Amino acid sequence: MPGLMTLMLPDLAATGRLAARLAPLARPGDALLLEGPLGAGKSAFARAFLRALTGDPALEVPSPSFTLVQSYDLPSGAEAHHYDLYRLDGPADLTELGWDEARQGILLVEWPERLGDLRPADALTLTLAHAATEDARIATLDGWADRLASPGAQDLGAPDLGTRNLGIRDLGI
Ligand SMILES: Nc1ncnc2c1ncn2[C@@H]1O[C@H](COP(=O)(O)OP(=O)(O)OP(=O)(O)O)[C@@H](O)[C@H]1O
Ligand SMILES: [Mg+2]
Repeated sequence: MPGLMTLMLPDLAATGRLAARLAPLARPGDALLLEGPLGAGKSAFARAFLRALTGDPALEVPSPSFTLVQSYDLPSGAEAHHYDLYRLDGPADLTELGWDEARQGILLVEWPERLGDLRPADALTLTLAHAATEDARIATLDGWADRLASPGAQDLGAPDLGTRNLGIRDLGI
């Protein structure tokens, strides 16, 4: 299926490299929806992504579990907004969290299932799942078919990233 890609991330560093590879593809108005269970690595991915976007490898990126949203100024003048909607009562509360304005920047959203009808249709959905070892994750990317096929993104499954592109055969299905 175009735009659907599955990668093996053997450790946290590989997740960080994937995030850094995806960050230059994001533009204001884009949304990355981060799915996966508690502890899957959604915040870890967002941290690396935001550090790449801001160009600041030491940027403090606290998990927005309690504030529900954290915002960041980008060197381009745009903003990025990192949401964690686990504790959101309903999509109506998103208005209070500045959702409409935030859509103009780059969005990272943990627990996007809570968005209901507000889920952006043209988003990149990244799903993280635990794998065989403690630090391994399987990442599935769905969306951004054109962008993931662009030259800058071609090597998302390349050895220099430490990631591995999984075919259906590798998944054992
Ligand atoms: N390959 C990996 N990718 C991401 N995180 C990893 C990886 N290996 C180990 N980890 C660890 O797993 C934990 C992931 O926690 P994190 O807070 O990012 O999860 P989360 O998906 O945001 O959970 P929550 O739903 O509670 O917000 C971190 O402690 C991180 O260091
Ligand atoms: Mg989190």
